Amino acid sequence: MKVTVVGAGAVGASCAEYIAIKNFASEVVLLDIKEGYAEGKAMDLMQTASLNGFDTKITGSTSDYSKTAGSDIAVITSGIPRKPGMTREELIGINAGIVKAVSASLVEHSPNVILIVVSNPMDTMTYLAHKVTGLPKHRIIGMGGALDSARFKYRLAEALGAPISDVDGMVIGGHSDKGMVPLTRLATRNSVLASEFLSEERLQQVLEDTKVGGATLTKLLGTSAWYAPGAAVSGLVQAIACDQKKIFPCSALLDGEYGLSDLCIGVPVVLGRNGIEKIVEINLSDAEKAHLTESAAGVQKTNSLLEA
Ligand code: LAC
Repeated sequence: MKVTVVGAGAVGASCAEYIAIKNFASEVVLLDIKEGYAEGKAMDLMQTASLNGFDTKITGSTSDYSKTAGSDIAVITSGIPRKPGMTREELIGINAGIVKAVSASLVEHSPNVILIVVSNPMDTMTYLAHKVTGLPKHRIIGMGGALDSARFKYRLAEALGAPISDVDGMVIGGHSDKGMVPLTRLATRNSVLASEFLSEERLQQVLEDTKVGGATLTKLLGTSAWYAPGAAVSGLVQAIACDQKKIFPCSALLDGEYGLSDLCIGVPVVLGRNGIEKIVEINLSDAEKAHLTESAAGVQKTNSLLEA
């Protein structure tokens, strides 16, 4: 299993580190346009191998895509991150050009690759990767929902006073402050609905805190987060590499599912060796449906900027 990670910044390097630590991939190739940077990160990570007990070989290169040839999975993290006060949508101008070039180069060297898009605005960048590469829709996956759901579980555990391993919950919709749809109605603590323990107001607070999860961190850190994004990507990579058939909310190209078409947005999918093996359509309440439709309108609006 060969995995390429484009962008050796904080998210890309964390992602490579988590993949290596889980020890399921034979090789991780890191690429970055900054001279020497990916080589340096790769060497530093390789020097943790004996300490952390992994055999994954990590190499780095300054934009030499021939090194990525034959990748099974490639993760696109390249582009600029947001600064405090910025929305993910404001990054479109610079990041669209980067994602376009990167996805085309990846597919040129690895025609069978499965792409995971992380660069923001993520749903629109995932849609762009489809337009540029024309890959079958099950082979392009946008990472947002797995991260937003992890942040949701963090907030749920905090509100419930429960260990995180006791809670479950999912966030669908667009990966944006307004577009996220945390499914509070379905959230559970060890299979008991969270609403049995929490008031509607407290659950609403969990929902609001989840939606600004990334923005809260950007304000604290001065740039966007990396540990949880890196861990979320590594979870998707592992589900594909190990053919786990796990359900994650991911940005997928829809063709009528949830009444939506011709856009990528977060919905529950089964991930296995073929990438998106199934889009799972769950019964949503009227309010959740309305929230998802509104979220989709926001994503479409950002997508329309691509042609501009
Ligand atoms: C975040 C970025 C990865 O939410 O979108 O932290």
